[in-house]
Amino acid sequence: MASESVALPFTIEPTTAPTPADHRADLIANPAFGRVFSDHMAMVRYSEGRGWHDARITARKPFPIDPAAAVLHYGQEVFEGMKAYRLESGGIATFRPEENARRFQASAARMAMAALPQDIFMTAVDELVRIDRDWVPTGEGKSLYLRPFMIATEVFLGVKPASEYLFMVIACPVAGYFGSGCVSVWVSDAYTRAAPGGTGAAKCGGNYAASLIAQRDSQTHGCDQVLFLDSREQRYVEEMGGMNVMFLRDDNTLVTPPLTGTILPGITRDAILRLARDQGLTVEEAPVAIDEVFEGAATGRYREAFACGTAAVISPIGSFRRTQGEAVFGDGKTPGPVTLALKKTLTDIQAGRTNDPHGWVHMIG
Ligand code: PLP
Ligand code: COI
Repeated sequence: MASESVALPFTIEPTTAPTPADHRADLIANPAFGRVFSDHMAMVRYSEGRGWHDARITARKPFPIDPAAAVLHYGQEVFEGMKAYRLESGGIATFRPEENARRFQASAARMAMAALPQDIFMTAVDELVRIDRDWVPTGEGKSLYLRPFMIATEVFLGVKPASEYLFMVIACPVAGYFGSGCVSVWVSDAYTRAAPGGTGAAKCGGNYAASLIAQRDSQTHGCDQVLFLDSREQRYVEEMGGMNVMFLRDDNTLVTPPLTGTILPGITRDAILRLARDQGLTVEEAPVAIDEVFEGAATGRYREAFACGTAAVISPIGSFRRTQGEAVFGDGKTPGPVTLALKKTLTDIQAGRTNDPHGWVHMIG
């Protein structure tokens, strides 16, 4: 069963060559996203017959892979993104990790991969953070980004679900994904991200591979990010390459596209919707027509927009651009007050600066 409880003992093999403390301090002072890695990694193997086995925390290093491993040919891969935060109290915590464990199972199911029991996912993450606790940076907006992922390792070129998998977790200290200020977003009319019945709701590498050309396109149009529209009519907002999107209307309604299977069910998205309700906003999960956003930005009906996700946290959107023109929120540079208030509430909970009304903070040590 997907959610069965399995206690798998992890062998802990500390690295024999830890990064010296002064070098580590330099590395984590202001790391570029995804460029700096901690000393260890978690690894667990799966094979049909044996099930999950050989769980270990070990020195982070390259590992051998057969050139015929299925992942290299058919892209059977899923991943997660989550963060460990250093709390005001000095402790370390993750945010809603059981939701990542659940989504990981859902993504794996969509890609016909083995189900990783949630206990193994949670233990791998907790043990990695414990051994690399000195890599969790201190300071506003900083955290240890965790990347659990699973690849098909069966050596076989036939097209079928693999019978062997490798689950791993790696970690990197990060600051913001974007610089400060507002993000500009290109609305793609050339590419879509996901179709009904496709893999849009799964966090699989293939979705990101398919989005890269659109992301590059957004940069050639002078934007930071790309927004995808629905693949049927190209009328409705879906999500961005690596984050969900939300809008604030002038009737104090926070609106975001519904989870119909073509967008990723973001854990940050879910948290923000709950916090927005707590703050007295009306929340709507409803289709958002892109024409309405462009008209609404001009009339003031649409006041604010932001991207949200683990890496992006809450990133204010200053403008959307498309072939036919531009939609600018405010002066295009200053984040809206509701966006900022939601960001503060969310990040205060994540950093332990305020109480945790929904029980989202998972203490590690
Ligand atoms: N949508 C996509 C395509 C993403 O890659 C992410 C990031 O993980 C999100 C949305 C936001 O999800 P979460 O808030 O769980 O990080
Ligand atoms: C995350 O937010 O964790 C993601 O996976 C998105 C990616 C842009 C880093």
